[in-house]
Amino acid sequence: MNILIIGGGGRESAIAWAVSRSPLVRRLFISPGNGGTLNYGENVILPLVYPFDEVIEFCEDAEIDLVIVGPETPLVDGIVDCVRRVGIRIFGPSQKAAQLEGSKAFMKEFLARNKIPTARFKIFDDAKEASEYVTRHNTPFVVKTDGLAAGKGAIVNKTVRETLDSINRILVKREFGDAGNRIVIEDLLDGDEISIFILTDGRDYKWLASAQDHKRIFDGDEGPNTGGMGAYAPVTFLDDKLKQLLDENIVAPTIEGMAREGNPYTGILYIGLMITRSGPSVLEYNVRLGDPEAQVVLPLIETDFLTAVWACMHEELGRLSLEYYDGYCTGVVAAAEGYPDKYRKGDPITGDLSDEPDCQVFHAGTVSAPDGKIVTSGGRVLCVSARGDTLENSIARAYQKMKNIRFEGMFYRKDIGAKGLFSQPE
Ligand code: AMP
Ligand code: GLY
Repeated sequence: MNILIIGGGGRESAIAWAVSRSPLVRRLFISPGNGGTLNYGENVILPLVYPFDEVIEFCEDAEIDLVIVGPETPLVDGIVDCVRRVGIRIFGPSQKAAQLEGSKAFMKEFLARNKIPTARFKIFDDAKEASEYVTRHNTPFVVKTDGLAAGKGAIVNKTVRETLDSINRILVKREFGDAGNRIVIEDLLDGDEISIFILTDGRDYKWLASAQDHKRIFDGDEGPNTGGMGAYAPVTFLDDKLKQLLDENIVAPTIEGMAREGNPYTGILYIGLMITRSGPSVLEYNVRLGDPEAQVVLPLIETDFLTAVWACMHEELGRLSLEYYDGYCTGVVAAAEGYPDKYRKGDPITGDLSDEPDCQVFHAGTVSAPDGKIVTSGGRVLCVSARGDTLENSIARAYQKMKNIRFEGMFYRKDIGAKGLFSQPE
């Protein structure tokens, strides 16, 4: 098969790595890819503009058998519908189903209709009404833009004043543009945050894995939010009882609800959850793998990933038996100086970037310079992912590899996975 992967970050490096190992692959293309995806296939630049004519033309010329989409924006913009319309296979949700991530208002109303647990909420497009709601309750809230805002659209506030300021920033100052035409105001939840990754053909589903991201820039979950500074999988405190609760109250009702409402969801569904004292609650749906969660989820799947995707696309998921590595995977992100604000670029990366059987270096913000040197080009530069029979061993292995990688201004968190160590089963 000839495969095209859309995207160029660490997540797409992990997808390209997983796909490249499949005996079913003939040629693999990644668009735009990065300095590391060249180890797995060929990079091509294709504009991702509706109605995705360049992508379709490339698929026809290169005889692509399957397109796999990494990031949310093309999915929300309808790439699946456009590519499928001309008879090319593409893995991911339709534009309508991608609304689960594309519109927080759609998602919250879906949850409420289907009685799936989530924080109490209200939707506003008027700043005065939103502010009155907050003042009346006299308590801080989380304020979220309805549309996609590159991971920055959810503002968790500590005070009423901060909450009112968030409303003002989105609805009055329009800091997030049209993504902020409407807002969701929701109650603050307290608990442990986890993510689960579900492969579904719209009817049957299979768990890929669970993971915990580390969103803050500094150790101990301090400092500003980032796209994710590291992750580990699977979540140590997710036992059979909690898994069953999630299946019954959240995963199955989501898949069934989308199908019943005429928007069957196909592809990978990422469910962000808060495990509160009164049970699990949905924080968000994402219509794709996470980044850096993909870098720790995919190495744990022993079954050929492309075979799993193929089964999913042919509604044969019910018959697929997914085999998992019996251990843990930890991924540590190395970022460029300045990230998550303005960051350095163009620094050569030296050291041992080679993949090993139990350890991969997934590039994200890197490019291959004309002389073949790998240089930094993004805020999150790379992610070292390592497997181990225990979480401790996978953490140690990832940090051991990271020690031999260098670039000017490089930094990474030193406590990735530690939150899993405190909550391990006996
Ligand atoms: P979202 O994009 O909706 O997942 O929000 C981004 C992040 O904000 C989440 O990963 C949580 O850490 C935090 N967050 C979102 N909603 C809530 C909530 N209701 N209570 C507490 N934290 C939240
Ligand atoms: N790591 C969070 C995300 O991919 O949305």
